[in-house]
Order: sequence, then C-alpha cells, then structure tokens
Amino acid sequence: MTIEGRSCPLSYRIDPRQLGQGPAPVRESVYIIGGLYGNWTALTAIEALQQQEVAAGLVEPGLVFNGDFNWFNVDNSSFRLINETVLAHNAIQGNVEAELCAPSAGAGCGCGYPEWVDGETVTRSNAIMTRLQQASVDHGDMLGRLKQLPRQLALTVAGHRVQVLHGDPESLSGWQLALEAMPEPGQLTDRLADWFGLAGARIFACSHTCLPYMQDFDINGVRHLVVNNGAAGMPNFRGDRRGVLTRLSSRPSPVPVLYGTRLGALYCDAIPIDWDEQWDDWFASHWPPGSPAWASYRERFIRGPEHRPEDAVRLTGALNCCL
Ligand SMILES: [Fe+2]
Repeated sequence: MTIEGRSCPLSYRIDPRQLGQGPAPVRESVYIIGGLYGNWTALTAIEALQQQEVAAGLVEPGLVFNGDFNWFNVDNSSFRLINETVLAHNAIQGNVEAELCAPSAGAGCGCGYPEWVDGETVTRSNAIMTRLQQASVDHGDMLGRLKQLPRQLALTVAGHRVQVLHGDPESLSGWQLALEAMPEPGQLTDRLADWFGLAGARIFACSHTCLPYMQDFDINGVRHLVVNNGAAGMPNFRGDRRGVLTRLSSRPSPVPVLYGTRLGALYCDAIPIDWDEQWDDWFASHWPPGSPAWASYRERFIRGPEHRPEDAVRLTGALNCCL
C-alpha cells in the first residue's frame, strides 16, 4: 500500500552509475546550502557571510542550493523572493521542488520518511506540501524554471571532485546518507565504497534528512568524506537556533566555523547561519498555532533538535575546528 509521505516515487530513483559522468567545474570556494525551507531571513544572513569573505580578501563563495529551498514560503512575496534568488545561482531540486513542479500521485510531501519519523509528522508534512502547492499556482514561470533544475551536480574544489546531491545516490528523497544510517566512525560499508567509486568523488555533499554531520571513510588508504549540512533554514543543534551550510574551499574560512576538517588542500567546514529574529514573527503570522508547520517545527525553532555538535563530528582524521 502506498502511504503519502512515506513512499518514494519511482521518478525519484537515481541510477548511481550515472554519478561521475557529468562535468565538474572548478570552484575556489562554494557554500552548499541544503534545506533552506523558505527561510528568507537565512538568505540575507548567507549573503552577509559572503561579504565577510570578500572583506577578508577572499573570492565571494559561489552558492549551490542543494534542494528543499521551498517549504514555509507560502505567500506570494516570499515564494518569489526565495525562488528568484535561488535560481540566480546553482541549484538542484529537492523532493519539495520535485513535488511542486510535477506532483507525483500519492507522494504527499515526497519526503520518503523512514520508520523512525512518526505518523503525525508525516501527515503534517503532506498538509504543508498541499498548501505550498496551492501557493505556487500563481507562479507558473517559476515552476517551469524549477522543473528544469538537475537533481545532482558535481564540482571540483582544490582538485577534489565533489558530488552534490539532495537525498542519497539512489534516490532524490533517500535516507541512506542520514546520520541514522551511517556506520560507526572509522567503519565503511560496501555500499558507501561502491558509491564513492561510481561517482569518482572524494566528497558527497548532501542534505534532506535535517541533522548535520561530517564523517570520513578510508577507502584503500584514501580519505573520503560525507558531509550533510542538516538544514540551512532551521536550527540544527539543541540550544542553538542557527542554520548550517557546508563551506568547501581552497582557502581557510574567515567566517565562524562550527566544526570542519581538511582533505589535502580542501577545507570542509560547517558554517552557522545566524538569521534575524524577525523570522519568528513572520513564521508565527504565516503558520500560527494550530497550523501543521507550527505543530511540527515551532519547538525546533525555539530550542533546536536533540542533536549536539559532538554528535555531528564523526571524523577519524584531523579536526580543524570545533566551537
Ligand atoms: Fe528533502
């Protein structure tokens, strides 16, 4: 039986053998931004981080939006602001964008939620998706552009190929790169080794599962990384109301770092996104008590999830920095 929000539409399937076949343009510095979730105040904070880098004499990091940049942005102005801004940069679809521009029968929110996510949360996500779809009907031009976005892309940073994807290498909404699915630090699974081999990549940069972490893997004596930024537009740690993005650069970060590591000449860092408090009022006015987003996310916006930076650092190699 298909259950909305639990199932994974067939169209989401990715053939991992296609990884590694596309171009991987060289970038000196990029911000990988997964899960902005319509938080337009986070966008402003990200632009401020870029300017801090420029003020420090570095190149402006390129922005790569790693899917699910839509979610809470259900009024006309925020819907256009989010999508016009994101589409001016590199972006891939997440399951939210896939369901916005080409709804799959019975997919609900398209999140493909695993068993450890409770049923009420899944039901509320489907309701949020329905409201977002209703809000998007007046923006056919945007939906057409979202439909053209790829579902994965690759970059080269400091000589290393980086595979950017939303869920996992087999599905747009896959959870096999969730923290909960990872082997113990220092361990490797055959599946991960296969994926890295097929992608020819040293780093998988992913999102979708809403809890950030960074883990390294020794494959035939060569260090590889999976880095999941959690959510750019929602809090990620207990007692910390900030979002997180992944910074990949050939230069050390001039902006504050939560934790990070180096892969040869490449700096890989989790960067906090400190958005303006006006977000709280905006959220409350658009998703008031009784709404599905209030029920699912208000607590997270106030206190953050049950996750700590030390839970996110799963590195056996050198740690650059940890607040
Ligand atoms: Fe997602």
